[in-house]
Amino acid sequence: MPRPARRANPALAASLAALLAASACDTLLTEAPDSGDVFDAPIEGLSPEELAGFIAGDEQFGLPFRPSTGLGPIFNNVSCASCHSGDGRGRPENNLTRISRGTDPARDVGGPQIQDRAIPGAVPEDLPPGVDSSERLPPAVFGVGLIEAIPAADILANADESDSDGDGISGRPNFVVPAEFVPAREPGGGTGLQLGRFSRKAQVSSLLQQTVEAYHQDIGITTDFLPVENSNPQASQATEAADAIADPELPTAQVQQVIAYLRMLQPPAPGADTESRLRGEQLFGTVGCASCHIPEFLAGTSPIPAIEGLPVVLYSDLLLHDMGEGLADGRPDGDATGREWRTAPLWGLRVMRDFLNGEAFLLHDGRARSVEEAILLHGGEARVARDAFDSLGAADRAALLDFVGSR
Ligand code: HEC
Ligand code: HEC
Repeated sequence: MPRPARRANPALAASLAALLAASACDTLLTEAPDSGDVFDAPIEGLSPEELAGFIAGDEQFGLPFRPSTGLGPIFNNVSCASCHSGDGRGRPENNLTRISRGTDPARDVGGPQIQDRAIPGAVPEDLPPGVDSSERLPPAVFGVGLIEAIPAADILANADESDSDGDGISGRPNFVVPAEFVPAREPGGGTGLQLGRFSRKAQVSSLLQQTVEAYHQDIGITTDFLPVENSNPQASQATEAADAIADPELPTAQVQQVIAYLRMLQPPAPGADTESRLRGEQLFGTVGCASCHIPEFLAGTSPIPAIEGLPVVLYSDLLLHDMGEGLADGRPDGDATGREWRTAPLWGLRVMRDFLNGEAFLLHDGRARSVEEAILLHGGEARVARDAFDSLGAADRAALLDFVGSR
């Protein structure tokens, strides 16, 4: 299967280098390079130091690991970018398979996901019998620093667990316990339950945890946060012996660089507002899409000062919704049930195909091949909106699709 190469961005690197040189001789430029259609542009207004960190983190995000640099022993892919193509969503061949076995204590053996690749000498995992499994398409990573900065109270203000307003939609937060290695001062850290915002079921509360676990589980890279390798319970001896690289394999500074990079990544700008798109935007509200795909929040505090106060135009409430039997995976995650999913943000759909060889993969497992198909697969709480979309006349339907596809 072809893997889209991460798009190198020499123009960006060059203009950032020029910017850094310029600021060194006291000509302060605050303008970030043209964001255009690239996924890996920084948000505007960063300091020269932050931009330098952005470039370093970008490189780290794309860096492929090898057995000699710590890859494995078991893993899913060799770099962050190999799954998150150009910082965008991935392809189904890069899906992760999450597993669990209900209340059976064996469910944690081998970790919560299947690592289907292994370095020489180690044995890749097979799906064990009798487990609940869930296929997850890699989501886009741009804009996660903005998502992180939305005040929890603003997200919770849209929750309506018992559907008290009777609109059939009952968005629910996923409150989760952060991993022990997440310091309390970290955004999304702290004692007790924290609001989950990341991943397909909003089961992760901090970018630190998302990143450390990605290194550990997806690439087989140990860090100070998780210094012990994953093993394959079906062949643990051979697998543990195969990776001879001393742990931890990646210094904390490099983990922090990747997190800073993710934080500063700007989401792609939406397309121009044409007459048809303005009509589509109106319909997006009237047929009920905007009840879950909430167009905009405002960023609150962030470790990156330039983020504070920015509009976060993501088209998601970041809450969980029961999407019906058709989309159910049957595998709970944190507080999320086997029928619930986090409302998928719609920003960046305009350039999705540029990074997927012209193709489209939508919904949690990538089963939908167009925006229209994704909408028609909505069920559960979204059934009424789906049906309202389906009964639109041809021109209105096209306008709504034009609007969504231009975000
Ligand atoms: C094997 C493919 C794969 C690799 C490698 C990978 N990811 Fe992911 N990533 C995923 C999938 C799949 C999800 C969604 C997981 C879920 O819902 O359970 C995800 C989720 C995320 C999210 C959450 C995005 C959101 O919208 O909530 C971030 C951030 C992220 N990954 C960053 C990284 C970083 C950083 C690396 C490298 C250290 C990395 N990923 C490596 C597949 C991958
Ligand atoms: C009840 C809440 C709800 C309503 C109403 C709703 N959606 Fe969604 N939407 C979701 C959830 C949750 C997902 C993620 C489902 C999954 O991953 O399987 C999603 C996914 C999507 C996706 C796929 C995005 C991607 O990146 O994979 C598109 C496109 C979309 N919705 C558009 C719409 C449109 C257009 C409407 C109105 C006709 C609408 N939705 C109404 C909750 C809703």
